[in-house]
Amino acid sequence: MSISNLAEQYDSYIIEKRRYYHQHPELSWKEDKTSDAIQSDLEALGIETKRFSGKTGVLGEIRGSKPGKTVMLRADIDALPIEEHADVPFRSQNPGVMHACGHDCHIAMLLGAAKILSDIRQDLCGTVKLLFQAAEETCHGAEYYVKEGLLDGVDAIMGMHIWGTLDAPKINVEAGRRMASCDNFKITVRGKACHGSAPHMGTDAITAAAAVINNLQTFVSRRNNPLNPLVISIGTIHGGNVFNIIADKVEMEGTIRTFSRELRKDIESIMRDMIENTAKGYGAEASLEYWQFPGPVINEHDDLNRIAKNAVVKLYGEESLAPLEMMTGSEDFAYFMEKIPGIYAFIGAINPEIGAVYGNHSDKFKIDECALHRGSAFYAQFAKDYLQDD
Ligand code: NI
Repeated sequence: MSISNLAEQYDSYIIEKRRYYHQHPELSWKEDKTSDAIQSDLEALGIETKRFSGKTGVLGEIRGSKPGKTVMLRADIDALPIEEHADVPFRSQNPGVMHACGHDCHIAMLLGAAKILSDIRQDLCGTVKLLFQAAEETCHGAEYYVKEGLLDGVDAIMGMHIWGTLDAPKINVEAGRRMASCDNFKITVRGKACHGSAPHMGTDAITAAAAVINNLQTFVSRRNNPLNPLVISIGTIHGGNVFNIIADKVEMEGTIRTFSRELRKDIESIMRDMIENTAKGYGAEASLEYWQFPGPVINEHDDLNRIAKNAVVKLYGEESLAPLEMMTGSEDFAYFMEKIPGIYAFIGAINPEIGAVYGNHSDKFKIDECALHRGSAFYAQFAKDYLQDD
């Protein structure tokens, strides 16, 4: 039986699994019951599994009957701290926690793929590893598995996301930049407190902080090449205690997004320079703490792009492919892509006819489940074709 037929046959299995995981969401690094359930689902399919000591997540392994390469398929499994208000009968049973990014769908699609790949084990040349990865929403859950050496001996990795701005069940596989890097920072501006009526007696950390905020936007507009997308956003600002006292300290946190690995290397030092010198001009002092999280997601391997695209066309025809603009959101799948060749795809969730119109992370996020078995088929077809490709 073809992979698309198998996927269709397993449609109700995949939907049932998706609804189970949807009802039982768990936050990042707390996916204990989720991991237990995934492990038992895999074992029920006769698939060998591995767990990680003290950490959540599950690895499954399917060895084909012929020797060959090793490919990894990845699904993230964590939920978000959101109270669900989606119009579905299988709402979260865990108050304040919701699979609002559709990672429940990823689990179900990869379980569906596991079922299909188990069935066609005799046709597989090599090994398929199934990584159910924890803590994607922390921006760096993937890093743990990379450090654990999980990619050792793996030739390529593929992942996908159910997507709330793409029509169901279209699939997006596109070469080039897909998602941005995500670096986060904290700025501390220090001045000297004094009475608010006599600012010259102290050093106003708030005025200095305001100048820092404005100057950082000129990094985007003046120092950065306009052909290079760059976002610098400050999301928190805390300073001062009373209306008539000059604040001696302001703390701000923010995030930076870009698709350019080259630019990314220089951002921290340029920012530090701007921040320190701006504050100095106000008689204040400023410091920068900077954390690099995932790099950009770039589909830059021609062979993987070709295999993935052909897999979709083979399964559902050219018309099932749809374009999707690159976006400044990030995805910790980039950690894998920095180590081994990888490809990242999207599968559409939207269907206005059933009210599935809300984007990922909305408390009303809802998907058209018709996409799910296609996701399973795509995972499986990609793995099979990659292993067969010379
Ligand atoms: Ni997500």
